[in-house]
Amino acid sequence: LSRLHTAWAGHPTVFLEKTDSTNNEAKRRAEAGAAHGTLVVAELQEAGKGRRGRCWTSPGGTGIWMTLLLKPDFSPSQASMLTLVAAMAVADGIGRATGLDAGIKWPNDLVIGGKKVCGILTEMSAEPDYINHVVIGIGINANIEEFPEELSERATSLFLESGKRVCRAEVIARVWEAFEKYYEEFLKTADLSPLKEVYESRLLNMDQAVCVLDPKGEWKGIARGIDENGRLLVEPENGKRIKTVDSGEVSVRGV
Ligand code: BTN
Repeated sequence: LSRLHTAWAGHPTVFLEKTDSTNNEAKRRAEAGAAHGTLVVAELQEAGKGRRGRCWTSPGGTGIWMTLLLKPDFSPSQASMLTLVAAMAVADGIGRATGLDAGIKWPNDLVIGGKKVCGILTEMSAEPDYINHVVIGIGINANIEEFPEELSERATSLFLESGKRVCRAEVIARVWEAFEKYYEEFLKTADLSPLKEVYESRLLNMDQAVCVLDPKGEWKGIARGIDENGRLLVEPENGKRIKTVDSGEVSVRGV
């Protein structure tokens, strides 16, 4: 990646023609001693993984399927916030490389024109009080020209939105440059307080109706932003106090 201007993110970058999942590959390399900042990029994933155990369709040659390995010093409870840091970085990177304006659907889907263009899957290996490693997997629908019918209502690509083929190396470089900058900010407090405003400026749910599905049932409200831990703040429709919503527990509809 000759155009990558970062101090550590993406050094080294490992390119693979194919792998099962770049997240799995990054985890194997972590266990074999790979360095903090190692980036794995694959042309094709044979078993790409999405959140909640779903598959992530990862055709060859047209997508950006990549995973960054981190070996951070902070505590395991803070790692889930990295997904939100990554979402901001992808939004910035897409903007810089293509001019497209991608918004964030909390916590970490990137959306253009109401359709998903990128998903992020963060996985961690940790002991109760320290992290062995974290992998941040990012799937960007870059030059995909057509989606299967069952996906076409919900998914889009940078190509479909801009009408042009995008340079994948450039998107990758701009994403990790933005990530490194935001990650350094995040480390100052080990929470999202320095980044809250930037995140909220990209948040499509901001001041919008959301439907929260938590273990106790479904309720409606208006999203009012995030707290310093990345939880969504929702003002319930019955006018009661603002509630914080954790991404592990709930699914949020709206947008
Ligand atoms: C989601 O929105 O469900 C998350 C999708 C994450 C997909 C990326 S593609 C690169 C990395 N490797 C994987 O197996 N998954 C992530």
